[in-house]
Amino acid sequence: MSVRNPVIAGNWKMHMTCSEAKAYMSSFLPLIANTPSDRHIVIAPPFTAISTLAQSIEGTEVELSSQNVHWEDQGAFTAETSPKMLLEHSVKYAIVGHSEPRKYFSESDEQINRRARSAQSNGLIPIVCVGETNEQRERGEAERVIRRQVEQGLEGLDPDKIIVAYEPIWAIGTGKTCESAEANRICALIRNWVGSENLIIQYGGSVKAQNIDELMSMSDIDGVLVGGASLEANSFARIVNFEKS
Ligand code: 13P
Repeated sequence: MSVRNPVIAGNWKMHMTCSEAKAYMSSFLPLIANTPSDRHIVIAPPFTAISTLAQSIEGTEVELSSQNVHWEDQGAFTAETSPKMLLEHSVKYAIVGHSEPRKYFSESDEQINRRARSAQSNGLIPIVCVGETNEQRERGEAERVIRRQVEQGLEGLDPDKIIVAYEPIWAIGTGKTCESAEANRICALIRNWVGSENLIIQYGGSVKAQNIDELMSMSDIDGVLVGGASLEANSFARIVNFEKS
């Protein structure tokens, strides 16, 4: 049986200036002084705060993720950031295929796959986000949609060096968490489709202090991707310090 250590990641989205990020870290770091060392604590700040945070987390257990990454090393790709640029700031993970760029910038599964492949081949761990809309769930299409996103998004990737985040879109920023048992059922399906016991699967969508312990007690949920509740140091620290049942 392989060990899938918990990966608790805060996706700050378009929040936090550099000075706010610094102040956050001064409050947050003392709160995780006794966190069990098998837990990965990851923060995905906006690109502008990555360099500042890389300095604040030096010598700590906190790891950094980007919120996206391009597939080329450099070139005429306005607004994009390459793996090489992130590695210079000790970034370890790269979120790709989040539902917000999928929705607002029409990111395709093929583009997401190119981003993930490039991240992985450069030594970053891609966090590939998948999840259905409310309408797709109501039409009974959730599993088909997620399976397509997983199969196309992960094509050609080593499943042992990747994270899949199951984020049902109807649960993001709405306060409506997916029932733990249902989130776990989908995560188990994803594991089965990918065919790797080592695959780390996160749940994301209105994760908060009140539901983290139950979510993390589920057999196929290995971690969480947290939006709103990661923006406040106390609340994210409580999530990182989830209680094992
Ligand atoms: P919320 O935790 O705010 O629902 O956001 C989830 C998310 O999109 C994390 O990537």
